[in-house]
Amino acid sequence: MATRKLLLLPGDGIGPEAMAQVTRLIDVLNSDFNAGFETQTGLVGGSAYDAHGQSISEEDMKLALAADAVLFGAVGGPKWDSVPYEVRPEAGLLRLRKDMELFANLRPAICYPALAASSSLKPEVVEGLDILIVRELTGGVYFGDPKEIIDLGNGQKRGIDTQVYDTFEIERISGVAFELARTRQNKVCSMEKHNVMKSGVLWKEVVSATHKAKYSDVELTHMLADAGGMQLVRWPKQFDVIVTDNLFGDMLSDVAAMLTGSLGMLPSASLGAPDGVTGKRKALYEPVHGSAPDIAGQGVANPIAMIASFAMCLRYSFNMIEEADRLEKAIAEVLNDGLRTKDIMSEGMNEVGTEAMGDAIIAKYRALA
Ligand code: NAI
Ligand code: MG
Repeated sequence: MATRKLLLLPGDGIGPEAMAQVTRLIDVLNSDFNAGFETQTGLVGGSAYDAHGQSISEEDMKLALAADAVLFGAVGGPKWDSVPYEVRPEAGLLRLRKDMELFANLRPAICYPALAASSSLKPEVVEGLDILIVRELTGGVYFGDPKEIIDLGNGQKRGIDTQVYDTFEIERISGVAFELARTRQNKVCSMEKHNVMKSGVLWKEVVSATHKAKYSDVELTHMLADAGGMQLVRWPKQFDVIVTDNLFGDMLSDVAAMLTGSLGMLPSASLGAPDGVTGKRKALYEPVHGSAPDIAGQGVANPIAMIASFAMCLRYSFNMIEEADRLEKAIAEVLNDGLRTKDIMSEGMNEVGTEAMGDAIIAKYRALA
């Protein structure tokens, strides 16, 4: 059995509490299912800053680059609000994304049947929802030059951000979307604003060309991103995979996320380019939520986002599809059984803490095997 190398970066706040549930799950996968995971643990964020004055050490960066996948908890908290900008907790995550060249951010929006009633939309609109937003993560307006505030000298200032996309960036992100669609319902909807943005014209053109050249078996549609936002809340089940740029993806993935309930439920993956020799992609998996300082240390954090991020890791980094499906099913069934952490608690349900939720999911996983 080949070893599967994981770097765990639990981080700050509830990060370590949530990660501990995944660590126990990994132990079970190794002992009972011979999964061959080899884990190392590093420091990131405020805890790394406290230890050595950097938000991630060079040594841990090396481990991240050498690992098959990185599992990341969360970083930040009021304790580090006044540390210098370059070493603030978030800088560790940004450095990982940059050095690992994680250009594809995958944000699923899955509505567990047991939670459909607590969505802000009607249950029938969200029940059974399973969509995947593929957001470009390393280009676009967050990174383009020039990016500055100029003093115009007449009492006015000008703030400038620049949206830039090159062909290769659009090709590679749409390639990821088309490939993922093939493992799902084989549908991609590309969202941009070609009506008012040159980068949108290019986006649409390159997505269409990539489709024609390599993925014509996948159904492709195009939608203006603002209309896409409307459709996401009107009838989200019309979508399978949505591919979009960094800025629109930031907003649309947050919109889609809220269709399905609490922050504590939302996983994500960030993928890099395939290695030329092995074909393996660098990858980092993390919950969407932050370090939740308001509840840290109380044992009440919802570990599902972290556990579901690990399910994505099984699926996308190790091709362990059966195991990923089983883990997602275990989560759904534990919710069907009425178990709820505080953030998703509703009347008549059974409130449990972080560890009890972890226990229940692990027990269910075993039972389903
Ligand atoms: P947050 O996601 O940490 O918390 C927002 C609210 O959701 C809080 O009330 C929190 O208790 C609740 N919540 C979040 N995750 C939960 C879970 N698993 N179970 C139960 N409740 C949960 O966002 P906030 O409060 O804006 O930021 C807190 C800190 O986290 C800040 O320092 C921020 O910079 C950092 N942050 C880090 C991120 C990361 O590491 N990727 C992402 C977002 C924020
Ligand atoms: Mg956001």
